[in-house]
Order: sequence, then C-alpha cells, then structure tokens
Amino acid sequence: MDAFLIRGPSRLAGTVRASGAKNAALPAAAAALLTDEPVVLENVPGVADVRTMGVLLSGLGVRVEAEDAGRLAMRADAVTSTEAPYDLVRTMRASILVLGPLLARFGEARISLPGGCAIGVRPVDLHVAAMQAMGARIAVEKGYIHAHVSRVSAAAGRLSGAEIAFPQPTVTGTENVLLAATLARGRTTLRNAALEPEIADLAELLRAMGAQIEGAGTPTIVVDGVERLTGTGGRPHVVIPDRIEAGTYLAAGAITGGDVTVAGARPGDLTAFLDALRRAGVEVAAEDGGVRVRSEGPLRATDVRTAPHPGFPTDLQAQFLALMTQARGTSRIVETIFENRFLHAAELVRLGADVKLDGHTAVVRGPSTLEGAPVTASDLRASAALVLAGLAARGETRVRRIYHLDRGYSGMEGRLRSLGASIDRISG
Ligand code: EPU
Repeated sequence: MDAFLIRGPSRLAGTVRASGAKNAALPAAAAALLTDEPVVLENVPGVADVRTMGVLLSGLGVRVEAEDAGRLAMRADAVTSTEAPYDLVRTMRASILVLGPLLARFGEARISLPGGCAIGVRPVDLHVAAMQAMGARIAVEKGYIHAHVSRVSAAAGRLSGAEIAFPQPTVTGTENVLLAATLARGRTTLRNAALEPEIADLAELLRAMGAQIEGAGTPTIVVDGVERLTGTGGRPHVVIPDRIEAGTYLAAGAITGGDVTVAGARPGDLTAFLDALRRAGVEVAAEDGGVRVRSEGPLRATDVRTAPHPGFPTDLQAQFLALMTQARGTSRIVETIFENRFLHAAELVRLGADVKLDGHTAVVRGPSTLEGAPVTASDLRASAALVLAGLAARGETRVRRIYHLDRGYSGMEGRLRSLGASIDRISG
C-alpha cells in the first residue's frame, strides 16, 4: 500500500494548474449511457474514481477509450448489462449515477445498495424516491436496488416527467434526476435542487446532446424530456476545473506561509472558501485566469460552517481545519453535511494539533507546533488535510493509505514537489 513521506516544514511557492473536476467528470461519464452515439469528454482528471467509473461502464457494455491528455471517449451502442455490482459500488458510491440513465434509456437498473462509508451513513433514499416519482418500480432485495419501468406504471416503458421536491439538496441525487429526466416523457420540475457548479456542467453537456433543461445552477430545474439524445458530435465536452483540488493547493500555500497560484481555478466557484481564507489573514487574489494566495503574517482563528453550495464546501472542511491549527486563537469548524467527517481530527492531534470534538463542531486552538509522525488517511479529503499538516510539520510525516487520496487527486506528490515540497511516494 502506498504512503507519502513528507519532510517538513517547507514554504511552497509557484504555480500549479487545476485538473478537471472529479465530481463533474463522473456524472458526465454516466451521461454516455443516454445515447448510442459517441460522447467525448476532455479535461478529465487521471484519478482512481474516474477509472472506476470506466470499469463500471465497460462492464455494462459501453466502449470506453481513455486517451492521453485527459480525453475520455465512450460509446454506449451495445449495452449488455444494467447492473452496477457490489464490488464497484463498494469502492465508489458515485456508481449510483448510472441509476438514472439506465432507467431512462433501458427501463431497468440493478444497483448494489451503497453501504455507509467513513464519513457517514449516506443514504440514497432521495435518489430512489425521485425515480419512483418518475414511474419506476423499485424493490430492495439482497443488497441491490432493483428498478424498472413497467409498461403499466409508465407509458411504453419510459419514465414519466414528475414534480419532485428534495427535502434537502443532494448533489448526485440532482444529477440522477437530470440524467433520467432528459429522456422521460413530459416535463420534470425539480425543486430544492443542488446548486454545485458540477450540476451546471452536467446540464451543459446534456444540452449539447440535445436535452432541454432550464435552471440548472438554480434551486428549480425544469427538464422537458426528448425522444433521443445525440453524442457530443465534433465538440467534446470540456469538464470544469476542480474547485476542491484547487482549494486544497491554495490551503497548502497558506499553511506553509507560501505564495501559490492555481492556474485555471475559477474564483466564483470558491467564494465561501476564499472568503474564509481572507478572514484568516491570507492574501487572496484572482489573477491571470486563476487564484493566488500569499500568506506571511500569522493566521487568525476563523470559524466556518459547511453548507451546500454556495456555502463553505464540506469537501474543504478537513483542509481548512488543518490550516486553523496554525492560526492564532480558537476556531470553530461546524460540519453540517456529513455526520462523521472529523476522522482527520484525531490524526492531526497525533502531529501535535489541539483539536477537540463537540458533536458536529471541531474546536481548534492554535497555533500549534506540529511535529512529523506516522498518520493514517481515512477518506479522500481527510488524507489531503494530513498532507497539508505534514507540509507544515517539523520532521518526517508518513501518511499511510493514500489510496484514498488517489481517488480524487491526480499526481499530488509531483504537483507539491513542483511547488518546493519534499514529498515522496513510498510503499508501506
Ligand atoms: N442524503 C440523503 N439521502 C439521499 C442523498 C443524500 O439523506 O438520498 C444526504 C447525505 O447523507 C448528506 C446530504 O444529503 O447528508 C448531502 O449529500 P449529497 O447527496 O449532496 O452528497 P453526494 O451526492 O453523495 C457529493 C460529492 C461528495 C460531496 C457531497 C457534498 C460526488 C460524486 N460526490 O456526494 O464528494 O462531499 O456531494 O457536497 O459528487 C468527495 O469528493 O470527497 C466527496 C465526498
């Protein structure tokens, strides 16, 4: 099992380029199931989750060609299966994204029920209820969601447009509804939809394929179903930059008292995070088509509360918590999206941080002098937080189980080295 060996502290300086967004590439790849024509994506990040999605789609009979330079070409003209098996769903919950497109185009899907995961229970009840509202019959048997559109419940085996209101916004739930509604009979109106930039990116791809969608990026999305969708034709869809990866490198610049630019990052996608950095005393500038942070003086303790977009992203909570270990005073970090997303806290304490958990709040007192130590990653973003702390810590930090990190960060060690970090991938 790979680990990172980090020798700190180091001051990071320079520029890295943002990768394409993992969480936009995954639903975009699932969209290939909606048509028998080729769908081509560009700016696809080279991360494990995207490869897992490729394996899942190939298993369904989609021809998937991953080319160099972030190009992914898919063609679903000979789909042979409508099942997402346990072994894949277990490693990547986003596998649930094939539910909507399979039901919409083939009238059936069998998806292994995702279990809980390190950050919380993470049910998929809202995905299921939305598909039912669109006419799907759903049964859960032997750990699988069996979904089908019967000719009785929906005309001619097609999903029907419906009025759906989510009691709380869900990102992949919104994406599943969008994907399913494009080919449904009639109009689907989704209220309290998620507002994350990845939703608007998926809608842009679907519109290019011929879908009729209004309001993506707002709380109310209206989709008028069409008979069929086309592929991307001669114009591949370019996946948006990864705001969470960008935020992670900006936090790396800030925690090391450095000067880091993430080229290609869109400041408008990161407003709440950049605002929190500014409140903490980090100099933040939108520059040359990217974002630059500089941090010289001592950081100030800063409270944040995670919330659905445009609030502070839960996917940057762990990294911000690591940053606050270096800030003067007491910061309160409140996690409102997932119930168990503080597994990094105990590991940060092993490096010398002062973090106490009180329910959904982490109370961080700083600044702490961090000392290198072996630590173990528990999930993707927690791993990133441990790497950030390792960059700021004196001596050697070994971050174990970085397969979590490889799910969503492409070539992190190379990028950090290019900014001046001493970091190596080792086995063990
Ligand atoms: N929820 C339900 N029922 C559902 C769906 C969601 O109760 O049917 C709850 C969840 O348990 C959670 C809240 O609703 O408390 C919001 O979860 P959401 O559905 O929005 O999360 P997701 O779609 O499963 C995506 C990202 C996550 C990110 C969250 C929140 C993808 C592939 N994943 O997950 O990304 O944390 O939105 O922004 O887009 C990551 O990249 O590290 C990651 C975990």
